Amino acid sequence: MTVPVFVETRDRITRIRLDRPDKKNALTVAMYQALADALRGADADPAVRAVLIHGEPDCFSAGNDLADFAARPDQGDDAPVAQFLRAVSTAAKPLVAAVGGPAVGIGTTMLLHCDFVYAAPGTRFQLPFVRLGLVPEAASGLLLPMIAGYQRAAELLLLGRPFSAEQALAAGIVTAIVPADQLLAHANDVALAIAALPPKSVQLSKALMKRAMAGPVAEQMAEESRHFRAQLASGEVKEAVAAFFEKRPADFSKF
Ligand code: COA
Repeated sequence: MTVPVFVETRDRITRIRLDRPDKKNALTVAMYQALADALRGADADPAVRAVLIHGEPDCFSAGNDLADFAARPDQGDDAPVAQFLRAVSTAAKPLVAAVGGPAVGIGTTMLLHCDFVYAAPGTRFQLPFVRLGLVPEAASGLLLPMIAGYQRAAELLLLGRPFSAEQALAAGIVTAIVPADQLLAHANDVALAIAALPPKSVQLSKALMKRAMAGPVAEQMAEESRHFRAQLASGEVKEAVAAFFEKRPADFSKF
């Protein structure tokens, strides 16, 4: 079966396009594996100087596939999702993201690891982990309070309501808001601009900015994934996922 992640390397840029529009680019286990492979491939290829990640202008990603959550896929250290999180959080080359439409769950948290994030005005961000009976992932429990301030992070992570591109900009998740019809071209221009700079200097500078947080980020991810894994087996997640597919509000009153 073809995995709906389209990867192409050209003009010193690896472009990664999520391509599962019928499910709002919800990420399956196979898609995480393709993303991890693409990011590692870009780091290993001396010809590549930047990576551009995008979906369609009206859909970035609805986050982890909820049917996969219900099936409780492998969440161990070598699971595709863990490989992807390691690859995105330790990428040596600059990551540029172009985001529009839904950017839910990992569709938002992966942005905390990107270097340039451009969002269309109508982007609908959401960190619904608690609503799903889960906990933050991708070190968002550490990085979001750090970049957005604790109170703002608490509102986004504990209440888990959707938030706008303006709110994401104010929270420091987004570099700039770009009109939807210019989004991809703008992100591509930035990727080309960074690819034209001295590559060793770019990569060293990125590494120096990420250096102090590398250890804490890895530790936080390990701690988050321990709790995430345990919660996946909980009745809270079962109820939340059933409610989503049955198109009804979840009822957590019995927990
Ligand atoms: N996992 C699996 N399927 C998903 C999905 C997900 N995360 N998000 C959307 N889909 C599916 C829907 O079930 C629907 O499938 P169907 O056409 O077979 O019924 C299709 O994608 C379209 O979704 P729909 O909800 O009708 O689109 P929408 O435009 O009304 O809403 C979202 C888009 C993203 C706001 C909404 O789909 C949503 O909230 N998804 C869940 C997000 C989530 O909780 N992700 C997990 C994060 S940890």
